[in-house]
Amino acid sequence: MIQHDPGALYPDHLAVLCRRAETALARGGFDHLVVPSGTLHYHLFDDRDYPYAVNPQFKAWLPLTRVPHSWLVFTPGKRPTVIFHQPFDYWHVVPDAPSGWWVEHFDIQVIRKPEEALALLPRDRSRCAVLGEAQSTLGEWVPNNPAPVLDYLEYHRAYKTPYEIALMRQAQVLGVRGHRAAEAAFRNGADEFSIHMAYCAAVGQDANELPYGNIVALNEHAAVLHYTELGRTAPQPLRSFLIDAGASALGYASDITRTHAAHGHDEFAAMIGAVDAAQQQMCAAVRPGFDYKQLHVDAHLSLMGVLKDFGVLKVSPQTAVETGISAAFFPHGIGHLIGLQVHDVAGFAAGDAGGRIERPAGHPYLRLTRVLEAGMVVTIEPGLYFIDMLLDEVKQAGHGASIAWDRVDFFRPYGGIRIEDEVLCTDGEADNLTRPEFVLANG
Ligand code: GLY
Ligand code: MN
Ligand code: MN
Repeated sequence: MIQHDPGALYPDHLAVLCRRAETALARGGFDHLVVPSGTLHYHLFDDRDYPYAVNPQFKAWLPLTRVPHSWLVFTPGKRPTVIFHQPFDYWHVVPDAPSGWWVEHFDIQVIRKPEEALALLPRDRSRCAVLGEAQSTLGEWVPNNPAPVLDYLEYHRAYKTPYEIALMRQAQVLGVRGHRAAEAAFRNGADEFSIHMAYCAAVGQDANELPYGNIVALNEHAAVLHYTELGRTAPQPLRSFLIDAGASALGYASDITRTHAAHGHDEFAAMIGAVDAAQQQMCAAVRPGFDYKQLHVDAHLSLMGVLKDFGVLKVSPQTAVETGISAAFFPHGIGHLIGLQVHDVAGFAAGDAGGRIERPAGHPYLRLTRVLEAGMVVTIEPGLYFIDMLLDEVKQAGHGASIAWDRVDFFRPYGGIRIEDEVLCTDGEADNLTRPEFVLANG
């Protein structure tokens, strides 16, 4: 049976991180790994702070996302230390005292002021790899972010531990809860802002806690890839709804997109169904040894097949891909690594000692070029859009006759379609983390 309790899985996760850190330090010639959790950032000329975003290198070790001015220190062969900042502060709620299933694995030093960390950090600063943003600087402790250490850790972060998978499954459960509430709000005629609020309420997270800004797009707005305006008035008539929204679970992200047709818009609903079926085939292609670049290129062909079937293309799918027309309808990458960050790091890494695998020519927005291996979690997010700016370029390139413009006119008012799931690459079949949660939620 699969173990889903993060607390039970955490000791093994920590052991993996310790092993990785040991090798990373050896690669860089350092004795200690030092990771500040980060600090608050302030608006210019203002005492107002931005929402705090924890250093991903810190939350990789600890399920702590809200303890600025704290530090993780790891020295091979020793228990890791957490310098835990719990200020005396009557203006703000301070972090609870350290508790939970992680505490028994650390030496914990509680500090009340950020500078108290200075006495607790390793003695010889020159022997430390300090991973953090410049703003985390404390006295002489300036993050040095050595490339050999970062390259190694970031490359291996693509391989999720069972603990991480368990948390990513939790992030799916929450996200799906929100998606169901959002669809219900759409069916009730709500505007984008109200749909967003329904989503947040169902997930139990506000915009600052979600892993990225919700994309809630009605009608033509679905053609704007990162539409985050949240209109206060529902357009009339309502034709379509695209929602790209995730959730967070102890620092891990989900990233889910669904597209819905309003009742009575059967042809657009059928096109959504066709993209959905194609997307599921793409998800099934996630297996070890498969080049993600190829998955992206194959997606172009498959999506052009949908457009051909719906009479939008006058040429073959193959010709649409070869002439670059497909990039006007599918103008983003098929997906990306995901985990501690929604667009997780090292998507282009050639290896754990650096180097870069370039994108295929003509595909400038692909975010992952690595060959898939067991343990990776990727998104699979094909889309089809009706974007005048890009379609004009097709005309200017002399390919206008390849497109049935009356069909473009028909579909333009719907904006577009995107379907996005997270898929875990295993030694066997692809494990779609998202779909089963929709099935369970639909009872
Ligand atoms: N939500 C951003 C993306 O899908 O990559
Ligand atoms: Mn995505
Ligand atoms: Mn997304």
